[in-house]
Amino acid sequence: MPVPSLRAIGSVQRGAPTFFTVDGVVISAFAGESVACALWAAGMRELRHSPRADLPRGMFCLMGSCQECLVWVGLRKLPSCQVPVSEGLAVETLPHRERPRG
Ligand code: FES
Repeated sequence: MPVPSLRAIGSVQRGAPTFFTVDGVVISAFAGESVACALWAAGMRELRHSPRADLPRGMFCLMGSCQECLVWVGLRKLPSCQVPVSEGLAVETLPHRERPRG
C-alpha cells in the first residue's frame, strides 16, 4: 500500500526535484532538504535498532542532538537530519551496512 505524501503543499519554497538512494533504493526528494525529512516523507521511519533492547529507532529531535537518525554516508556515520540531499547521494542505514556479509 503506497504511503500518502506528508509533504506540505502551497507556498513552500523547495530545491529542485532530485533522487538519492538509501540501501540501494531510489528515493525522490528536493535538493537541500535533509535526508531524514526525505525519508519521513517517503514513509521510511526506522533507520536502525537500539543495541540493547533491539527496538526500532528513527528521527526524534531533527536538530542533530539525539543521534537517533544515524546513517552511513560514504565512510562517515552521520545524523540524517543534518545531511542535505543532493543528486546521487548514496546513504546506507546502519543495519544494511553493518550486517554480516557472506
Ligand atoms: S533526529 Fe536527532 S540527531 Fe537526527
